[in-house]
Amino acid sequence: MRNHSPNIAIFASGSGSNAVQIINHFKTENIDTHFFVLSNKKDAAVLEKTEALGATTMSFSREEFYNSGKIVRFLTENSVQLVVLAGFLWLVPQNLLEAFPNKIINIHPALLPKYGGKGMYGMRVHTAVVEAQEKETGITIHFVDEEYDHGKTILQKTCNLDPSDSPETVAKKVQQLEHKYFPLVVKQLYKNF
Ligand code: GRF
Repeated sequence: MRNHSPNIAIFASGSGSNAVQIINHFKTENIDTHFFVLSNKKDAAVLEKTEALGATTMSFSREEFYNSGKIVRFLTENSVQLVVLAGFLWLVPQNLLEAFPNKIINIHPALLPKYGGKGMYGMRVHTAVVEAQEKETGITIHFVDEEYDHGKTILQKTCNLDPSDSPETVAKKVQQLEHKYFPLVVKQLYKNF
C-alpha cells in the first residue's frame, strides 16, 4: 500500500494521450495524488508514458478482470477514490461498479447517445460521423454503468464540422476537446470526494 490519500486509477489500453494530459494537469496544479494506470494490454504505450510521469502501472488478463477480485482489491488497498476510463474498451464488471458507485467515469469521442455502444471506438466513430454528414460532433464524459457508453452524462462539449472534414480532421478536433476538458472534469470530481 502506498499511502492513505485519495488516489486515482486510470484504465486505458491505447496511446494514452488523455492519461498523460490528466496526470500532467494534476502535476501543474500541485495536487498531491498518486496515479495507478491499469491496462488489459501489457505493451500498451500508455503504460510506459505514464510510468515516466511517476504513475504505478499494471496489466491484467481477462480472467483477472472478470473472474477474480484482484482488481477491486488492488484499487481499494491503494486508496483509489476515482476510476477513470480513458480509451478502455472492456465492459466494467459488476463487482467493480459496486465497489465504486458513481466513481467510475468514461470519455467517449462523440455526442452520446449518438455513435456509442459496443464496437464504436476510435476512427470508427469519426468515420460514422463523417458518413452521416453531421454538422457537429464532440465529447461526452459520463458515469459508467453496466452498458457500453450509457451512464449519466457529466459533460458534453461540441465542435463544428465542415463538409471538408475527414475522419482524421474530426479526430483532431475531438481530441483537442478531450485534452482540454477531461483533466478539468477529473479534477472537479476528485476535489468533491
Ligand atoms: C479517446 O478518443 C477517448 O475518447 C476514447 O479512447 C480514446 C483514447 O485516446 N475513449 P488516448 O489513448 O487517450 O489517446
